[in-house]
Amino acid sequence: MSKWFYINFLGVLVVIWFVFNQTPISVYVWFGYVAALLIIFNWTRHAVFSTIRDSTIRKRKVRLATLSKKILPYHKWVGSLALIFVLVHGTLVIERYGFHWDYPKMLVGLITASILTLQVATGWMRLYRPTIKKRKVHIYSGMTLFFLLVLHLIL
Ligand code: HEM
Ligand code: HEM
Repeated sequence: MSKWFYINFLGVLVVIWFVFNQTPISVYVWFGYVAALLIIFNWTRHAVFSTIRDSTIRKRKVRLATLSKKILPYHKWVGSLALIFVLVHGTLVIERYGFHWDYPKMLVGLITASILTLQVATGWMRLYRPTIKKRKVHIYSGMTLFFLLVLHLIL
């Protein structure tokens, strides 16, 4: 199994930990949590692909590739939905607290949302006109997105 499965699983644990440590949870925070889980779900595609590439067991390769194909139709909608949830979350948060550059959680949130926008844009672009460059940007911005997301939560 790719080490990314463990790293992603840790990400999910961080999200769950934060959910249980907040009472009561406001509506805008729920939008944030749902978006976080949708992003990690899509990012797990990278862990699946890495495992397929590294595995020497043919049976496992085929099983994972079949699973990956089944999830493919949902991938673009899960990612786009995450962006919508994030936009609602960000708007409600700014409505509640006002906008402050010197509030680290807000600043990192904004950077994370920008990378998510890039991720969704390169996703749709590569769907219609795939190039190697778009694929690389989609993977590396996905990786950046994952770590920024965890940083946004723990700040
Ligand atoms: C990919 C983008 C984003 C995701 C997945 C996300 C997710 C989350 C989650 C799960 C929380 C709850 C965690 C906690 O309270 O510690 C949260 C809190 C927060 N987020 Fe975001 N967020 C994103 C973008 C943004 C943006 C764009 C802003 C600012 C405009 C923002 C500002 C905040 C603030 C201020 C809190 C703390 C709210 C409070 O404790 O009352 N986030 N976010
Ligand atoms: C949260 C947002 C997203 C994340 C984290 C994400 C992540 C990933 C990852 C890790 C891969 C596999 C990388 C590879 O090519 O080896 C991938 C593939 C792909 N993504 Fe996304 N993605 C997101 C949103 C989107 C959206 C909105 C679209 C819109 C169409 C999209 C389209 C694609 C396409 C066409 C592929 C290649 C399909 C395949 O060969 O399996 N992605 N994505």
